[in-house]
Amino acid sequence: MPTPHISAPDGAFAPDILLPGDPRRATRIAETFLDDAELVTEVRGILGYTGTYQGRPMSVMATGMGMPSATIYTTELIRHYGVKRLVRVGTVGGIHMDLQLGDVVAASSAHTDSAMTAQRLPGVHYSHAPSFTLLRAAADHADETGAPLRVGPVLTSDAFYQPDETLVPRLAAYGTLAVEMEAAGLYAVAAAEGVEALMVGTVSDHVVKGEFLEADERERTFAAMVSVALGALTR
Ligand code: ADE
Repeated sequence: MPTPHISAPDGAFAPDILLPGDPRRATRIAETFLDDAELVTEVRGILGYTGTYQGRPMSVMATGMGMPSATIYTTELIRHYGVKRLVRVGTVGGIHMDLQLGDVVAASSAHTDSAMTAQRLPGVHYSHAPSFTLLRAAADHADETGAPLRVGPVLTSDAFYQPDETLVPRLAAYGTLAVEMEAAGLYAVAAAEGVEALMVGTVSDHVVKGEFLEADERERTFAAMVSVALGALTR
């Protein structure tokens, strides 16, 4: 049944889904990685496809940017379409000095400066964590394929342009690898709904070093990261 934000028939999505932020990336992932991919929803230009990957049903759908948008789509996918394993495939801004552009980060936890998930459990500083099964599968896949995967905490921020310039260095001092804008919301929704989630992202820019990837390198490293996500889902 259609939802307020997804117009697709029952059964239109696979239990496993990749979630880029950008709708054009959803199209590119469907075209590049999936077989027999069909467009199943396009409300507000948020494109979703279902096909197969190595013979298994697999979906990909955009979420837009930020937790408010991502949590709308993931909640509806889980509650109305029975999606069970969600892997966000995005870009992150590096903040740890050891990180290189093009590295792939898997978020083993997500700090947040947002009030969004605090509303769920008032009085608790909730730990936003992924599915250990998916995280381990991603790490094992990267070990076997040599993908440059780094596992560690990220900051999920409501702001792309940080108003407090001291925040990033302070978090880096606590071992935080990168900043992005969706993982904490995804992890909280998945936990509340009893399903599995993971965020993987390529380092598209380094906030402290002031570096960023050119468009063609961005595409190449993004594809490497999608391979890690698909590897995790198919182990
Ligand atoms: N995604 C990619 N780079 C980012 C950054 N610098 N801040 C937040 N999200 C990002």
